Amino acid sequence: FKVPVIDNEPMKNYGPGSAERQALQAAVDKMLKSAPFEVPCIVNGKEIKTGDIQSQPMPHDHSKNLATYHAATPEVVASAIEGALAARQTWEELPWADKAAIFLKTADLIAGKYRYEIMAATMLGQGKNAWQAEIDAAAELCDFLRFSVKYVEDLYQQQPPRNSTGVWNRVEFRPLEGFVLAVTPFNFTAIGGNLVGAPAIVGNVVVWKPSPMATYANYITHKIFLEAGMPPSVIQFVPGNPPEVVKQCIDHKDFSGLHFTGSTHVFRQLWKNIAGNLDVYRGYPRIVGETGGKNFHLYHPTADVKSGVVQAIRAAFEYSGQKCSALSRCYVPASLWKNGFKDTLIEETEKITIGPCTSWDHFTGPVINKPAFDKITGIITKAKEQGDEVIAGGSWDESTGYFIKPTVIVTKDPKALTMTTEIFGPVLTVYVYEDSEFEAMPKLIDSTTDYALTGSIFAQDRYALQYVAHHLRNSAGNFYINDKCTGAVVGQQPFGGARASGTNDKSGSMSIFNRFVSMRSIKENF
Ligand code: SER
Repeated sequence: FKVPVIDNEPMKNYGPGSAERQALQAAVDKMLKSAPFEVPCIVNGKEIKTGDIQSQPMPHDHSKNLATYHAATPEVVASAIEGALAARQTWEELPWADKAAIFLKTADLIAGKYRYEIMAATMLGQGKNAWQAEIDAAAELCDFLRFSVKYVEDLYQQQPPRNSTGVWNRVEFRPLEGFVLAVTPFNFTAIGGNLVGAPAIVGNVVVWKPSPMATYANYITHKIFLEAGMPPSVIQFVPGNPPEVVKQCIDHKDFSGLHFTGSTHVFRQLWKNIAGNLDVYRGYPRIVGETGGKNFHLYHPTADVKSGVVQAIRAAFEYSGQKCSALSRCYVPASLWKNGFKDTLIEETEKITIGPCTSWDHFTGPVINKPAFDKITGIITKAKEQGDEVIAGGSWDESTGYFIKPTVIVTKDPKALTMTTEIFGPVLTVYVYEDSEFEAMPKLIDSTTDYALTGSIFAQDRYALQYVAHHLRNSAGNFYINDKCTGAVVGQQPFGGARASGTNDKSGSMSIFNRFVSMRSIKENF
């Protein structure tokens, strides 16, 4: 059979008075009325209520919970692992067409029947506005599921090109022995779906530990997988205390892979824990992770000021700077800075309105929770104490939700705190360089942090573009020319960072699926 032609899910625009705006508003209103939702663990397709209740508050209105969830106990995690292992062989042996059909159907259910529900859960639980929720929980989630069918189909075609006389060489793509643990982040509902989907589509069984801050949207995703026909034990949904659930999985003798998105610190710790357990396992677990970033825009004196500023604002402040790819450091030449860049940046940043994600009027909303709020505001305060200048924003209010105004800082020290630390919030730091220093900028950018996730060069001069692309070759897994450093699209720009930003296995490409298969080479003599 041939898999259907796959394309990106068309995005809706939610213009005033549009039917889609009304439908989404109705879904949000309904969800607000019925919240908080009770989320169980789901093991072998059965809902388990452990009684250890944790909550998922709404970041824009933290006195209210979107959901309460039952944290998995060690017994529940143990039965999730056992159930997954018991289902492994049947899932592996289910024909590829049937696996593909489940993924395509899951995507169709999300694009149609559940679009507004999963978007509403992402808006209320993770603080996204409607358009950011559309990019994530509707478009990107469907794209991950559908393109995974295309990429795995292509992967399976990768057969050895040569056979000598009387020989047939071929390869098989087996799933890993054991189970894969998916540890998923709060900031993209789509990433949750992809971290479980990518290993599962090539025949692995997966234990899913969702982020406490995205539990409800992830729970909806899981239920949609089940409705689309995913066999109940293939993906086990176990929200709970993150370090405990993760440790129990990693300590298990049949642990065979980690699919992770989150902080660099946690990922490194898990890697060390896995290394410490090597004698427990029969093989070498696959470790796949996307972690932190300190993403940059570099402007050349020939760059267009107006569009350069717009791209910086979108990259730094959409979703309040909580995309892994978000812009956090800008290098601007003095000539542009004096001739419009600074004034336009201040003016446009001050125009941005922030407010509840339930409203249609705001460019962006809250940050995710109290620890994030405290960390981000603490960094702004410290930057000021260290002599940096706040030229826009710089105020905050946590009385109802965790709101921080988009903030622009100018520093004279290219190694200042805000140029080197991942902030994961609406804070952009600018370093103004003398035009004559342009050629030294790539080296400065590269040596400032060990992160290498996303970055952009803005210039009209082709020599400058080529020079920077060459000298920053290893400084970003996703590199953009005259475009912002956010917004990678599945099937168009494979996404992932190198160095301290991750194993660079590129979601939204064939590479990721390679990591979750174990090839067998077969040579047959005739
Ligand atoms: N794919 C997203 C982006 O590029 C980040 O996860 O913005």
